[in-house]
Amino acid sequence: MTMAAGASTSMLIAAAEALAARREGRDDLHARFARASLDACGDAGARLLRRVDSACGRLLLRLAEAAVLPGIAAHYRWRKRRIRHWVHEAIEAGARQLLVLGAGFDALGPCMAARHPSLRVLEVDRAATIAVRERALQACGIEQPRLLMRDMDFTTEGPGDTLRGLERDVPTIAVAEGLLMYLRPDIVSSLWRGVRAQCRARIDVVASAMACGEDGMPGFRCQRPWLRGWLARRGEPFAWGTTRPCLPAVMAAAGLAVTHVADPDDGRDPDPCPGEWLFRGTLLPRW
Ligand SMILES: C[S@@+](CC[C@H](N)C(=O)[O-])C[C@H]1O[C@@H](n2cnc3c(N)ncnc32)[C@H](O)[C@@H]1O
Repeated sequence: MTMAAGASTSMLIAAAEALAARREGRDDLHARFARASLDACGDAGARLLRRVDSACGRLLLRLAEAAVLPGIAAHYRWRKRRIRHWVHEAIEAGARQLLVLGAGFDALGPCMAARHPSLRVLEVDRAATIAVRERALQACGIEQPRLLMRDMDFTTEGPGDTLRGLERDVPTIAVAEGLLMYLRPDIVSSLWRGVRAQCRARIDVVASAMACGEDGMPGFRCQRPWLRGWLARRGEPFAWGTTRPCLPAVMAAAGLAVTHVADPDDGRDPDPCPGEWLFRGTLLPRW
C-alpha cells in the first residue's frame, strides 16, 4: 500500500512525535496515535517507524533533517505546545466544539475529546488520511462517540455537506495547523465562509501560515534550496505566504480577525525553525 499525495509531511510530523516520545520515555495518546498512524500508512510509514526505532535509523533521520530543514522536528513540538495550550484556553473559556481542519496524523482531537467530557470534535482531511486515522484510532482502542471524522478535499469540494457535522449554536474552536499554506487564498476564504455558514456561535481559530522570505517566496528561514522541489514532488507545494505586518490584513480578507501571533523570537521559548506564523483569532460574524 502507498500513501496518497499530500501525506508525506503528515508522516514526518508523526515520526517527529514518535521520536520525541521515545526520547522523553512517553507512551501517551499523542505518541501511540502517531505510531499507529505510521503503521497504518503502508510501506512508507513502516519504513519511517523502523528508522525511529533503531539507533542507525535515528542518525539517518537527524542527518536528513540537517540536510533539508534544520530544526523542523523541534519546530513541530514548539507549534503543538502552543496549539494545545490555546485550545485548552478556548475550551476553558466556553468552547464546546473542536473543529480540526487538515488533521493529518495528529492526536489533538482524540486527546481533547478524552480530556473534556462535554466537547464534540469534528476532524476533516482528505479521504486517504481519514482512512488512516480510522485505522489508527481502532489500533489505539479508541471508541469515542463525540469524535466525528469527515473526508473532504478543500480545493475541489465546497465545505457545505462535510461541515454539516458542526452544531450550529455551539461556541467552537477551529484549528488549521500546517494547512492554510497549501490552499490558494480564495480557497482559504471559502473554507472559513463554509465554517461560518454552519455555525452561528463564536468561533475561535488557531491556525498557521507561511512567512515570506527575502525572495518573497513562502518558506522557512533555514530551509535548504532543495526543500521546495521536494515539496512539489510530494504534491505539497506552499501556495502562498505573508509577512508579519501583512498577516492580519490577509486573514481579515479571509474573514478572520487575528488577535495574537506567537513570537518566534520569544526569549524563553524561541521557535527552533522560524518561517511559519502561528496565530489565533476569531471568525468575523459576516464579511
Ligand atoms: C502538513 S499536514 C499537517 C497535519 C496536522 N495538522 C499537523 O500539523 O500535524 C497538512 C494536512 O492538511 C491536509 N490537506 C492539505 N491540503 C488539503 C486539501 N486540499 N483538502 C483536505 N486536506 C488537505 C493534508 O492531507 C494533511 O493532513
